[in-house]
Amino acid sequence: MEEQGWPLAEPYKTKMVEWIELLPRPAREDAIRRAGYNPFKLLAQDVYIDLLTDSGTSAMSQEQWAALMRGDESYAGSTSFQDLQASVQDVLGFPLVLPTHQGRAAEHVLMQALVDAGDLVPNNLHFDTTKAHVLARGATPVDVVVAEGLEPGGDFPFKGNVDVDRLGDLLREQGERIPLVMVTVTSNQNGGQPVSLQNLREVRRLCERHRKPLFLDAARFAENAYLVQQREPGQSDRSASEIAREMMSLADGCTMSAKKDPMVNIGGFVALRSEELYRKVRDFGILYEGYATYGGLAGRDLAALAQGLRESVMPQHLAYRTAQVAQLHQALEASGVPVMSPVGGHGVYVDAGRMLPHIARDAFPAWALSVELYRERGIRAVEIGTVLAGRDPKTGEHDYPALELLRLAIPRRVYSQAQLAQVAEAMRRILARRDGVEGYRFTYEPPTLRHFAAEFEPI
Ligand code: F0G
Repeated sequence: MEEQGWPLAEPYKTKMVEWIELLPRPAREDAIRRAGYNPFKLLAQDVYIDLLTDSGTSAMSQEQWAALMRGDESYAGSTSFQDLQASVQDVLGFPLVLPTHQGRAAEHVLMQALVDAGDLVPNNLHFDTTKAHVLARGATPVDVVVAEGLEPGGDFPFKGNVDVDRLGDLLREQGERIPLVMVTVTSNQNGGQPVSLQNLREVRRLCERHRKPLFLDAARFAENAYLVQQREPGQSDRSASEIAREMMSLADGCTMSAKKDPMVNIGGFVALRSEELYRKVRDFGILYEGYATYGGLAGRDLAALAQGLRESVMPQHLAYRTAQVAQLHQALEASGVPVMSPVGGHGVYVDAGRMLPHIARDAFPAWALSVELYRERGIRAVEIGTVLAGRDPKTGEHDYPALELLRLAIPRRVYSQAQLAQVAEAMRRILARRDGVEGYRFTYEPPTLRHFAAEFEPI
């Protein structure tokens, strides 16, 4: 592949456009007040640049749209399912696949099959839905990420890595309570941070020694593979797709939210190596999702997913995608906005705790920054801080996470560099007047998953 070159340019051209509009400031003030100062409750048409999530928000390619038209809607044994199976075998190397309607459904059927009350499930850093599914089984999620993973600064290249000493101790001391080990690639919760191949190999060795299946939460596996190619000694000559296959070869299976790297608007799956495990998971899949060859998806969704999975490891796509994210990171860093470093794969995470030190944690600095970003430029981002973390079920206290972050998640193939430059400019302006940014308090606090439905007022 030819070098990326300068300035950064999209490796595609646009065939269809969707108009977006920046509302005037008074209308934005009105919209966010009506939303109870909760960006989740904004209407999409009131948002100018939507960085709420990179999940289900990608632009599909012409090949994916064409695949959609060829979708086979047979209830059982659809050709679109066969295409998905072939794609999973090619790209990931797993022989068996059980489609599900999205990632959390894959987690649901896997946990139903493997996890019982009283179990422990280790994971580098659980994503919220994975954590919720472990808890829903009466089991306990245990985060075993390396210490560097919870520090905002520094240049440790693999902040998603598992602390193998801690995992080893856990397996030795509590092994009989551990039904599986999971690793999230990349780790969403601390900045889309990658896991090194070396680390995955060590985790694999531990799992073999203790006879535990290893599963990857693979939503952003291709970005992880690309960051391994860029950052891990000895990997620069290999393609991301080769690295991705090696990552998968170390695991017994994966759960996939196909709304991320595989660039579909809906879909997911569990992929597996063992026929015995597949049968167990399949029975729950049929119960909760639908027959084993469609799993809650239309045939056309399976077809678009099969194609999107192949595109997820395209070198020009990954080079552009990660460079686009890195450029936003650089622009923010250059203007003094504190960000989680080094940059991860799918977004830039602003350290709101450091940016707004005058706002107490129980007045939600990262939440305040999300409201301010909407006010400033109609941009929607998501808090990954105290509001999301919820309360300790025993004490009722806020469950303060290590970091108070605002995630600017970048949808794939959607926004231009000029649009992202507007995001950097808006953040710079907020930084310049940060002392005037105020904290928030609840006017309505839901008992669970409070970030989706909560309402606030400025203090
Ligand atoms: N695993 C990871 C690492 C995720 O980031 C997500 C979703 C899931 C599993 C669940 O997948 O949404 O298809 O059910 N993350 C989205 C986000 C919601 O915005 O980061 P899903």
